[in-house]
Amino acid sequence: MPEAFRILLNETPRDSWETHPSFKTPTRNWLGAHRMFRRLAETIRTTLETHLENRASFRTTVTHLSYYGDALVRNLHGHHNFEDTSYFPELRKADPRFAGGLEILERDHEILDRVLHDFTQQANGLITQFQNNVLPGERPIADIHQTSLAIERLLQRHLADEEELAVPIILHHRLRG
Ligand SMILES: [Fe+2]
Ligand SMILES: [Fe+2]
Repeated sequence: MPEAFRILLNETPRDSWETHPSFKTPTRNWLGAHRMFRRLAETIRTTLETHLENRASFRTTVTHLSYYGDALVRNLHGHHNFEDTSYFPELRKADPRFAGGLEILERDHEILDRVLHDFTQQANGLITQFQNNVLPGERPIADIHQTSLAIERLLQRHLADEEELAVPIILHHRLRG
């Protein structure tokens, strides 16, 4: 995130958020959703790593992949939609100086959506193989593992940028109380 969009963050650094008088439940819950996304992305990556290390059956891997993958993709989709249509417009209206930063975050959502689409295709391919009693070679698992790494990296950067742009605006303008 360019330095120009970090002026409010410099006034209200991350370790001061929790005790700020304008830090309310909606912001706490929003940060909680981000923690859940980080955990889900990590669980998906480690599920695939466990398989690649021959420490899990195909059945276990497919079960975990479909459960956690579905939770991540579905919840992130709803979360992005809420941010694009409601949350970001509210922040933009409150403080137009940060419109450029919000545009960067909207582009991140598009990039993430494309990678999540690839992930869904790859996961569905594995689920179909499992249903047809076909054991996968190492390659498809290695490929989806690479996708899971890309998701985790993108999410880590996006969520940190988003929190450090949005929370200082919310605290400064006393939004979402
Ligand atoms: Fe976002
Ligand atoms: Fe978010």
